Amino acid sequence: MSSQSKQPWDGILPVLQSKQEQQAYYDKIARVYDLLADRSEQPMREKGLKLLAPQPGERHLEIGYATGHTLVELAEAVGPEGRVFGIDLSPKMAQLAAQSIERAGVADRVQLVVGDAAHLPYPDSFVDGIFTSFTLELFHTDEIPQVLSECRRVLKGGGRLVVVSLSREGKRDWMVKAFEWTHRHFPNLLDCRPIYVRRAMESVGFQIVQAQLDHMWVPVEIVLGKKD
Ligand SMILES: C[S@@+](CC[C@H](N)C(=O)[O-])C[C@H]1O[C@@H](n2cnc3c(N)ncnc32)[C@H](O)[C@@H]1O
Repeated sequence: MSSQSKQPWDGILPVLQSKQEQQAYYDKIARVYDLLADRSEQPMREKGLKLLAPQPGERHLEIGYATGHTLVELAEAVGPEGRVFGIDLSPKMAQLAAQSIERAGVADRVQLVVGDAAHLPYPDSFVDGIFTSFTLELFHTDEIPQVLSECRRVLKGGGRLVVVSLSREGKRDWMVKAFEWTHRHFPNLLDCRPIYVRRAMESVGFQIVQAQLDHMWVPVEIVLGKKD
């Protein structure tokens, strides 16, 4: 790989949908989201959660919580003394996540927000950890460092960020090319595209503690970063 292609933004495809279109898309698929995606995404999320290792009494934030599986796991891990916050663009996902949280009996410690995570509505140094899976790759390319900088702002010193995302690292086989072709030509069907996760986190000042390259249909990066 040439040194030029090592830039975190090199070769990343643009996002072709507006925020309104993204919101409408996730509202529309919310009820069937788990059927469509959970089987493949769940094992990757679990690996990410293991890296985050949420502890009793801590505060954690999830960006892009969808139907709320991870929120429930975070809430169980932090226990009644901890707090979990979540932000998602889709009001329909928020409704479903609130129902999951209620059913799991952890509503006492979870607060949900509907909004765009490019601007996090939380104070500086607010949480011990942030988790986001299959969401960073939905942001416009110039927003990726903005979202990660927002994460740094909201994390306490020593706080952890785990990102699980489709990745452009590794071999560019026919599947990666087919995936990117579909994103380019049918953005309404495939809104996400592979990005460079570890490099992007380093570029905004995260110290990388661990980085794994896994595989779904395309490579998936699972990265734990720390704010100094
Ligand atoms: C592909 S789903 C991933 C859901 C879940 N994290 C998982 O791993 O299964 C992306 C989620 O991010 C949300 N989302 C998309 N753009 C967002 C934004 N700008 N700010 C916050 N959430 C966003 C969507 O509504 C959706 O619930």
